[in-house]
Amino acid sequence: MKLSLAATLALVAAPVLASEGEYMPPVTHDATKAECSECHMAYPAGFLPQRSWTAIMTTLDDHFGENATLDEVSRAEIEAYLVQNAADAGGRSSGLLYRVSPDETPLRISEMPWFRSEHDGEVSSRRLQKAGSMSNCAACHRGADRGIFED
Ligand code: HEC
Ligand code: HEC
Repeated sequence: MKLSLAATLALVAAPVLASEGEYMPPVTHDATKAECSECHMAYPAGFLPQRSWTAIMTTLDDHFGENATLDEVSRAEIEAYLVQNAADAGGRSSGLLYRVSPDETPLRISEMPWFRSEHDGEVSSRRLQKAGSMSNCAACHRGADRGIFED
């Protein structure tokens, strides 16, 4: 019997990951939740490939124009968690990496091809203005912190 990833996760970690409508498992790691939700929501690891998390976690002194530096112990622990739960962790393939070439390292979820195809033409300029930026997932997806990204 072959189970989908979602079904497998639900079996392993029920009931937390089994909640209805969940699109992407939210961050469960305490340090990541605490340190990466100060300026925006803690983005789920499964939205970016391993190389992206490594790039982000090794350039925190220049993080989208902010200094998000951490002590080395927390930094390494958070990087390990994000890498272990990345879109391509364990060599798995993910539809979210659609049209991302292996030599590209996306730094933004909001600029990936899947993201653009889901959002382009779906968001009014008024709504975007209210959210401030496409990085502010929770402004439009009220369930974002729980991994729910329905409208
Ligand atoms: C001091 C504030 C600050 C902290 C702390 C911080 N970030 Fe950010 N982060 C930002 C800013 C600013 C942006 C750009 C947001 C925008 O363009 O609206 C950003 C964007 C991002 C993006 C891209 C979002 C997108 O558009 O898809 C990722 C991924 C990200 N951060 C990961 C992290 C991780 C992982 C941590 C914890 C180690 C972290 N951030 C901690 C300020 C911060
Ligand atoms: C300005 C509003 C807005 C922002 C900000 C936004 N989204 Fe969306 N998102 C939408 C709309 C509208 C749709 C299309 C309708 C729908 O499927 O809910 C959508 C669709 C999606 C989908 C597809 C849902 C499905 O069931 O197929 C995902 C996943 C998603 N967004 C994730 C994100 C993530 C992650 C972020 C932040 C990095 C984000 N969105 C930021 C408005 C937004």
